[in-house]
Amino acid sequence: MADLVYIDGDFVPKAEATIPLLDHGYLYGDGVFEGVRVYKGRVFRLDPHLDRLLFSARALAFQTQGMTRESLRDAVLETCRRNDHQNGYIRITLSRGTGLGLDPAHIDLKPRLVISTQQLALYSSRLYEEGLTMITCATRVPSPDAIDPRIKGTGKYINNILAKMEANRVGAGEGLMLNAQGQVAEATGDNIFIVKDGVIATPPTSAGCLKGITRQAAMELSEQLNVPLREANLTLYDVYTADECFLTGTAAEIIPAVALDERPIGTGRPGDVTRRLIDAFRAHTGEMGTPV
Ligand SMILES: Cc1ncc(COP(=O)(O)O)c(C=O)c1O
Repeated sequence: MADLVYIDGDFVPKAEATIPLLDHGYLYGDGVFEGVRVYKGRVFRLDPHLDRLLFSARALAFQTQGMTRESLRDAVLETCRRNDHQNGYIRITLSRGTGLGLDPAHIDLKPRLVISTQQLALYSSRLYEEGLTMITCATRVPSPDAIDPRIKGTGKYINNILAKMEANRVGAGEGLMLNAQGQVAEATGDNIFIVKDGVIATPPTSAGCLKGITRQAAMELSEQLNVPLREANLTLYDVYTADECFLTGTAAEIIPAVALDERPIGTGRPGDVTRRLIDAFRAHTGEMGTPV
């Protein structure tokens, strides 16, 4: 099967796919990106992903005139079709342009769009049954007044990578990141939710977390399941003393988290609300989405 990468309108075999040495995303992390899932030939929540990409690009003043949700959608779907990509992951990266020096006034500001497809299995099925363990990372999320957490910018991820390495060092499934005030922000690649006394809580984006697409899906599904949900600033105490905890992300989907910093969360087993949400999410991803 063909494994083609979309680069600025061309489809190139993955082994031959290259970007210029002076790509500003490569040189300075001056790019935005999306990770998207396709399930059973349907791209999950494609439009919200494309909107987030375009809003991230707009917030960073990329010159995306002429690039629309529709043109991006066509490019993503065509990439999936050419690769017969019915299940798996789609990576979309948009960089500001090409040129040496950080000053955008002195570079070619034509944004570079790259779309590729991959297979992905972030966690074993055992962890979805038993839950993963977490540690609190020393690496904090950037302050929201420095870079808005709603911008999914490539350069920002050095922090997440360092935090993930902290979790790896002690064999934890994920690392929990706090903001400068010590409030819970998010995991290195996922949003976090807790359940306490039958109510779900998740930090607001102002705490420093990404406005996750899976987070939004979990919020909608919790409403369908009649489980109340609120956005609230959380501390480590709230997570340590929660009845349940779960993480959401495009790659991780919904996964239970059963311990933090060697404290079991609730019973130390995935809870009832988490299990119901995972079941609802799996049914939802199987039936929803933009057909390839
Ligand atoms: C830092 C971070 N937080 C949260 C998420 C979850 O967001 P989404 O559900 O849109 O994948 C991701 C993944 O994209 C992420 O990288």
